[in-house]
This record gives sequence, C-alpha cells and structure tokens, in this order.
Amino acid sequence: MFLVASSSPADTAGVASALADHAAPGDLLLLVGDLGAGKTAFSKSFGAALGVEEPMTSPTFTLAREYRGRLPLHHLDVYRLEQMSEALDLDLPDLLDSGGVVLIEWGDMIVPMLPADYLEIRFTFGEGDDDRLIEFVPVGARWAARESALAAVLGVPIEGGS
Ligand SMILES: Nc1ncnc2c1ncn2[C@@H]1O[C@H](COP(=O)(O)OP(=O)(O)OP(=O)(O)O)[C@@H](O)[C@H]1O
Ligand SMILES: [Mg+2]
Repeated sequence: MFLVASSSPADTAGVASALADHAAPGDLLLLVGDLGAGKTAFSKSFGAALGVEEPMTSPTFTLAREYRGRLPLHHLDVYRLEQMSEALDLDLPDLLDSGGVVLIEWGDMIVPMLPADYLEIRFTFGEGDDDRLIEFVPVGARWAARESALAAVLGVPIEGGS
C-alpha cells in the first residue's frame, strides 16, 4: 500500500495520467471513495492519457461504457446495482481477457464478484476543499509484483526491506 497526496484536480489528473501510461491489457482498477471524492475526475484523466478522444461521461446512470484508446477502456460505475449478482452481467473476466483496461467506480461494493487481481485506488477527503489522499492498495499477485514500479512512477519512496 502507498499513498499520494493531491491538493488539486490537476494533481489528481497527473497521478491518473502517470498510471495510464503504465496500464497494461487486463488491468482492473477499483475507484473507491465517497460522493465527490474524485473517482470520475480520475477516470477522465486516465482515459485522456490512454488516448481516449471522445468526452467521457460519468457512468453513474449507464453502468458501463467502452472507449477506444491505446487499449480498450471500460468505465463502470456500480453504485446503482440493486444486487451484487448483477455484477455478473458486467462480464469482467471477458473484458479483461480481451485486452481491455477496466475502471470500476464504487468497485468495493462488489468485491466478492471481482477477479483475484486488482488495484484499489481509494480517495479520502483532506483538510482543504481540494485536498485528497489517494491510497493505492494492490490486491493479488499481479499488482503486488508491480507495486514498487507504480510507486516509483508516482514519485513515492517505498520503504526498503529493513
Ligand atoms: N484534489 C482533487 N482531486 C480530484 N477532484 C477534486 C480535487 N479537488 C477538488 N476536486 C473536485 O471534486 C469533484 C470530484 O467529482 P467526481 O465526479 O470526480 O467524484 P466521484 O468520486 O466520481 O463522485 P460520485 O461518487 O458522485 O460519482 C470535482 O468537482 C473535482 O473538480
Ligand atoms: Mg463518479
């Protein structure tokens, strides 16, 4: 786990872009945090850095949208799912196996339905209106193996073995 402090939407955009530059086919990212924390803002910057040219909208009412970038990008929001079992209809394994990158807003609501490997990105509010703390939690071997590389990309010093 590592943390990045953001003090503006531009900071968050920078974090999202850096991460998108390192995105690989089959990456699953959960965006977690309260209303207005920055999940959609992050997603839009991530998409732009991935080469998505069309405007990305908040998927709150559409559940899932696919965009074309360097990799296919699937932007999901599961806030309005009535039952966890509806998450099966999202066909996550298929989206990931077919080489896409998947972002899920409120993804922590469907943890039991998720594949074994994902990166949880958790937004919390800080002191000032524009302050956010962004916590990166790797889940599964795929992300554990990439944690220190990601931290380096985001400029976070990772503690050594001692
Ligand atoms: N440091 C920051 N990082 C990200 N967004 C910020 C920051 N400071 C202020 N904001 C503002 O906070 C808002 C975040 O809204 P956004 O739609 O991204 O939230 P959300 O987490 O997707 O909420 P919801 O759960 O309602 O979809 C935007 O208006 C954005 O400009
Ligand atoms: Mg949102």
